Amino acid sequence: MRQPTMIAPSILSANFARLGEDVARVVSAGADWIHFDVMDNHYVPNLTFGPMVCEALRPFAGEAMMDVHLMVEPVDALVPSFARAGAGLISFHPEASRHVDRTLAMIREQGCQTGLVFNPATPLEWMDHVMDKLDLVMLMSVNPGFGGQSFIGSTLPKLREARRRIDAYVRETGRPIRLEVDGGVKTDNIAAIAAAGADTFVAGSAVFGSPDWGVTIATLRAAADH
Ligand code: DX5
Ligand code: ZN
Repeated sequence: MRQPTMIAPSILSANFARLGEDVARVVSAGADWIHFDVMDNHYVPNLTFGPMVCEALRPFAGEAMMDVHLMVEPVDALVPSFARAGAGLISFHPEASRHVDRTLAMIREQGCQTGLVFNPATPLEWMDHVMDKLDLVMLMSVNPGFGGQSFIGSTLPKLREARRRIDAYVRETGRPIRLEVDGGVKTDNIAAIAAAGADTFVAGSAVFGSPDWGVTIATLRAAADH
């Protein structure tokens, strides 16, 4: 019961000296969502951008949704700021919030979709009691903090298990939940990742590091849908 494929290029691998232009170009190249990696040098050992940059880029994204991935601790204070800055979906890591259920409720109250993110070693049990508040489950296939890392193979069985849990929930309630994968997604492994159950794919270096973003996005989509 996968949802229609979404390709979400991560602008972590874009050119930071011309982010607006790169966002507009990657949307014309076929990006469905813009993946916006927020790092705080506390939850992860790197520092990127915040709500003001999201707000400045939003007009360049056109129809594409801002998929805001918070790698920050604490989480809650940034939720209203990103909602005002035009985020369509806000995801966060459960270890970074004292009250996961409350943070999820806050994201919805602010009019955004919710996502819960699982690091490679984070057990899927974190989703058990909050399924009703989830619009998306995201599995990290690298340790968060940097683009351009290699896909961790144990993500594939974990994706199959996440898919099983989501499908059981959808059968019971009829309400869909997306399954996104983030880290090391390339044209040569996306088919296997999709076969394991993912329907939403972050790709940073694979898209922005390629000579023709449009061809790369089309190749990723075709392989995911095959
Ligand atoms: C890592 C980020 C990812 C990363 C993906 O912390 O959450 O979104 O930028 O980049 P690639 O696709 O290059 O692994
Ligand atoms: Zn990310």
